[in-house]
Amino acid sequence: MHITVIGAGYVGIPTAAVFAKLGHTVCLLDVDEKKIGALRQGKLPFFEPGLAEAVGEQLSSGALSVTTEYNAAIAHAEVVFICVGTPPLPTGEADLSYVFSAARSIAENFGPHRTLIVTKSTVPVGTAEKVRKIISDVTLSSKGGSASGGSLSRDLAQFDLASCPEFLPEGSALADALNPDRIVIGADTDRAREILLKLHEGLPGARVVTDVRTAELIKYACNAFLATKIFFINEIASLCEQTGANVADVATAMGMDKRIGPAFLRAGIGYGGSCFPKDTRALASIASGHNHDFQLLKAVIEVNQQQRARFLEKVKLILGGVSGKRIGVLGLAFKNNTDDVRESAALEIVAYLMKDGASVVAYDPKAEANAKIALPALVTCSTAAEALQHADAALILTEWTEFRDLPWQQLKSLMRQPIIPDGKNLLDPSQMRASGFTYVSVGRP
Ligand code: UDX
Ligand code: UDX
Repeated sequence: MHITVIGAGYVGIPTAAVFAKLGHTVCLLDVDEKKIGALRQGKLPFFEPGLAEAVGEQLSSGALSVTTEYNAAIAHAEVVFICVGTPPLPTGEADLSYVFSAARSIAENFGPHRTLIVTKSTVPVGTAEKVRKIISDVTLSSKGGSASGGSLSRDLAQFDLASCPEFLPEGSALADALNPDRIVIGADTDRAREILLKLHEGLPGARVVTDVRTAELIKYACNAFLATKIFFINEIASLCEQTGANVADVATAMGMDKRIGPAFLRAGIGYGGSCFPKDTRALASIASGHNHDFQLLKAVIEVNQQQRARFLEKVKLILGGVSGKRIGVLGLAFKNNTDDVRESAALEIVAYLMKDGASVVAYDPKAEANAKIALPALVTCSTAAEALQHADAALILTEWTEFRDLPWQQLKSLMRQPIIPDGKNLLDPSQMRASGFTYVSVGRP
């Protein structure tokens, strides 16, 4: 089939690459000339394991093309995926202006055949109906535009709407897109349902076929629940610190219960990224917009933010204050295997330390450039050893596994004080203490 994906971001690029890999003809559209120019050379706007290779492959096979022009991209498309950003407004509500501008542009460029429009970006329940209204208004006004007469195709433009939310974690987006647990298809017409089932043939995983509103809510429900699991284990970690229990063993035992499952029970400095903080706030505002006081979700949002402060208190306590101290930081990305620093807890903690008068030197395998854009005053370096040179403490703030394999014995001799506050429970407490470090972590004695 001929597909167009709008939005060359963390959602749009893996989506386009996978459909091209499945043998469809895919056109990836973005309004950002720079991004499209770079993509033409197979350069991605972000790091994602294996994605640059997959895009390069599909570009050279001709299955995938990239453009900034709406007209050709839409006129030939049987299916159009909307994958533009839906960032949070100050109120926490999702900003749908990009989704609506994409919908208008689609409607202005309809081809002669019936087009299926699919929202893949995370959007509040009821967004598809708003998109439908925008598109109908555009096609109606073009009918009304008697001067130009509107092209016959536009006047008769019929279209279907569907919701096909993505569940891609950054750092494994391509792998997960090729091997999904399930594909959620929210459609209100048989035609839309059939097209989407056919389009996804060749991909493993279950199919959940439902209506559009339900599909829109499924995405928020999943992300909010995953965020709740992290909130819960962080609360248990605090209790472990009061009672002398070990949260890692608690999580292991909990996870062995099939009803709970082992994933997303890693205590730390709280979740970050462009999804959980945005989607939990958006769902809370959707709930209050429907007169539902989602108390648990409010607690999740609140307590998650406190994790940063809890960890900072620990650092201040062990160092006797951070002002004037030299602090080495390992990790700036919001999680491992990504260069994304959006709502990164690591970056928030670094910003606090700098504000409190610490001199910070930070190392991250991939996120250095993005971190410096977000925090221009940040001093970074290109190895862990440089970050730990003369440091009063080494903070671990992102779960890069390479930090586990560092030559800690050697690094200790570079440090002024062998103190390691580990915000990600990455290292083994008894091993680190045996090597002579003062080691603190989250919820472990
Ligand atoms: C983000 C969130 O990560 C995801 O959870 C949510 O579902 C949608 O918003 P993401 O792919 O990360 O998705 O968005 P982003 O990386 O901001 O990329 C969006 C792209 O759309 C940008 O490249 C932007 O230039 C492009 N865009 C935006 C358009 O092509 N047209 C527009 O009108 C607006
Ligand atoms: C998430 C969802 O997993 C994905 O399905 C959705 O499409 C987008 O949002 P992402 O935000 O990319 O993916 O990363 P994820 O692996 O979910 O981690 C989110 C945050 O939670 C990170 O800051 C991570 O460090 C933290 N986290 C994760 C924990 O603190 N503990 C855990 O056990 C797992």
